[in-house]
Amino acid sequence: MKRIGVLTSGGDAPGMNASIRAVVKQAHHLNIKVFGIYGGFQGIIEGNISPLSLNDVGNIIQKGGTILRSSRSSFFRTKEGLQEASKQVKKHNIDGVIVIGGDGSCNGAQYLNTNNIPTITIPATIDNDMLATQFTLGFDTALNTIINAIDKIRDTANSHERVYIVEVMGRNSGDVALWSGVSGGAESVVIPERTTDVDEINRKLNKTYERGKKSSIIILAEGKGEVTDLSNALQEKSGFEIKHTVLGHLQRGGSPSALDRMLGSKWGVYAVNLLKNNEYGIQLGIIDNKLTKTTYDKLKYSEVYNYKENMYKLVDTLSI
Ligand code: F6P
Repeated sequence: MKRIGVLTSGGDAPGMNASIRAVVKQAHHLNIKVFGIYGGFQGIIEGNISPLSLNDVGNIIQKGGTILRSSRSSFFRTKEGLQEASKQVKKHNIDGVIVIGGDGSCNGAQYLNTNNIPTITIPATIDNDMLATQFTLGFDTALNTIINAIDKIRDTANSHERVYIVEVMGRNSGDVALWSGVSGGAESVVIPERTTDVDEINRKLNKTYERGKKSSIIILAEGKGEVTDLSNALQEKSGFEIKHTVLGHLQRGGSPSALDRMLGSKWGVYAVNLLKNNEYGIQLGIIDNKLTKTTYDKLKYSEVYNYKENMYKLVDTLSI
């Protein structure tokens, strides 16, 4: 491997820049040229590819978003899209591509890999919903952003004696909701992995108010449905004044936490080392604090699935 490409794809995640920086620096040590592919997989198709120097990755470790920009490309998945992508990879003599992104991006990386373009995937999404890793890049920063918002909402909720529903991201996964629920001190968490029991939420609300609690926070994962539906159902049952806040895309931005900078840096170096050794067709991960590599064909057998019933129980235990 003498020339490698790097791209970021899907929803951006804080820490992506730390990863890009680490790729360029480690490649420099190993005498490998790095090419930045701009705008995700669509960027390969359009030949939006140019060399990345040490100077290009200076002063970016602290920045949120991705200097390589991102996209979700459906054309890439077509036969024509793949042909175009292959043409561009050949034209630039790129020997392997590091894909930094979530599960959709990992599927894209597998698609390239089975079509003779070696890839490595660095797991990056605030959702923490990928196989074969306990953590994904950006999750920690997003959690910190969310609990910061919850703390502020709690101030006003308490002053007005209100119940607040806070909607957080997580299309198919409740991990963001559960972790922010525990660390934000939420009374209830509503997630795609479980059926919603409005009576149970109402029962809990009443119990805590009876002992003198002035406000409550309920976290709803976006994939579980409309916040207004839950709000109306609960208002009707409980009679409490229910307000809601949708945190939306602000959860994806901001300067990465130390943990995300660290993860991004380690995975960036690891990915380059693997490519240098001609190892590819791999998604990286972290399990029990150790960096891991899982070949794409083994991903579906991974025992790591991030939703854990005991996290749900923890919210319950602490919400009395
Ligand atoms: O990055 C993952 C994610 O944040 C999901 O939680 C969310 O549903 C989705 O991306 C939103 O994506 P978009 O930027 O396309 O609106």
